[in-house]
Amino acid sequence: MHVVFVAAEMVPFSKAGGLADVVGSLSAALVRARHKVTVVLPLVAGIDPEAFSLARRLLPVEVALGGKTHRIEIFEGRLASGVEVRVLRNEEMFERDAIYTDDADEPLRWGLLCKAALFLLAHDGEAVDVVHSHDWHTALIPYYLAHGVVSSPNLEAAASILTIHNLHHQGVFGSEMIDPLELDRSRFVPEGFEFYGKLNVLKAGLVTADGVTTVSPAYAREILEPEMGVGLDGVLRALPEGVAGILNGVDVDVWDPSTDMRLEARYDASDLSGKAACKRSLQEDLGLPERERTPLVGLIARLVPQKGVDLLLSIAPRLLRSDVQLAVLGTGDQGLESGLERLASRYPDKVAFHKVFEERLSHRFYAGCDLLAMPSRFEPCGLSQLIAMRYGTVPVVRHTGGLADTVVDLDRDLETGNGFVFGRIDAVELLGALLRGLASYSSEQEWTGLVRRLLGTDVSWDRSARRYLALYQARGGATRAAP
Ligand code: GLC
Repeated sequence: MHVVFVAAEMVPFSKAGGLADVVGSLSAALVRARHKVTVVLPLVAGIDPEAFSLARRLLPVEVALGGKTHRIEIFEGRLASGVEVRVLRNEEMFERDAIYTDDADEPLRWGLLCKAALFLLAHDGEAVDVVHSHDWHTALIPYYLAHGVVSSPNLEAAASILTIHNLHHQGVFGSEMIDPLELDRSRFVPEGFEFYGKLNVLKAGLVTADGVTTVSPAYAREILEPEMGVGLDGVLRALPEGVAGILNGVDVDVWDPSTDMRLEARYDASDLSGKAACKRSLQEDLGLPERERTPLVGLIARLVPQKGVDLLLSIAPRLLRSDVQLAVLGTGDQGLESGLERLASRYPDKVAFHKVFEERLSHRFYAGCDLLAMPSRFEPCGLSQLIAMRYGTVPVVRHTGGLADTVVDLDRDLETGNGFVFGRIDAVELLGALLRGLASYSSEQEWTGLVRRLLGTDVSWDRSARRYLALYQARGGATRAAP
């Protein structure tokens, strides 16, 4: 099959969150399964085409949208994984201060990406079996395909798949955006893209895509209910083919403690001394006392309400009565950032807050910590708990979404299960789970057995990549092209 991803961000080019990891690692997994994969993404500020050896096509393309003709340069290349990439450059529209903005023309920026991507595919002279888009930013791809806004023999048999990575981001705008985005006004109805009197871009994609997926089976069920459906549960329930929940994997070549050169030392289940060395060097980096038997709890996240950082803040003074250290890595909401700063200055020998978003450092956190806290209010999949397990770091999570699918509560003897799980969005329940973790940590032998067991967790893409391929086939990719 020829599968095309269109996405706002992708590792190694750009990243605001887990979406970039998934686009990077799932595309590579599909190539390993012997399919052709092309990823189309925007050249956002910070991507240097030369650093990735991308070649610029001689002829730019011109794409009309919103009453204006946009000139788009195409950079192309092939990653070591075999994934083909097409990076689209339009300085004015794509290169802003951040990948996502609150600028008035935000819907046009992503509408342009969608139309330009389809335009490119239409003229590239190669048939496409599946166009797979991700989140609202590329949700107009299925809409434009279904409405023939861009059409070509190459795209005739293409199945459109739309994956929800986070239902909270829907792209809701005033109805004055309908015409600039070349949407059909007659579809501004509840069965179409109308949403409480506004335009909902994600909804436009959901009701026109051949297949809709999300990133874990539990989240696929949760978003069908009003409590977690963010206003779209009814739309999702009405989809004829339903919502498939396919768990994310991680890139196991990048995230491998036995080969990871970003770490102080490497380790595997047969010899854990490297993990102890990673802990020591992380404590040193963070300015925390180097104490081998003090449990080190990590939190690595975008600091937003979704991640439940406020829950951790509210119980921190009680947690810190125990012999424990807390290390936080991430940036985000100002209120949460300053709360963490205050905590770190109040407990300088117990709490360290690194207010950065840095991939390299995150490896050292995953390896050096003993426990990883993820008290998420909701979590479509979550990648951190998977990476933590692979680094022998025990997750402490709320039972929600992908966390519920991947973390099973440990029993007393630490023999079954792989983490500490709590149920309700409640700081005291989080405290309980963390204290259970600290207590278990003191049984050194059982804990070591647990860490060894976690290091063997399969978090690769293999199974999930097969599920995507089966879905592509079922929704028309390849079969429609067959005689
Ligand atoms: C979003 C979700 C996260 C998921 C990621 C990749 O960032 O919040 O749970 O793992 O997308 O699908």
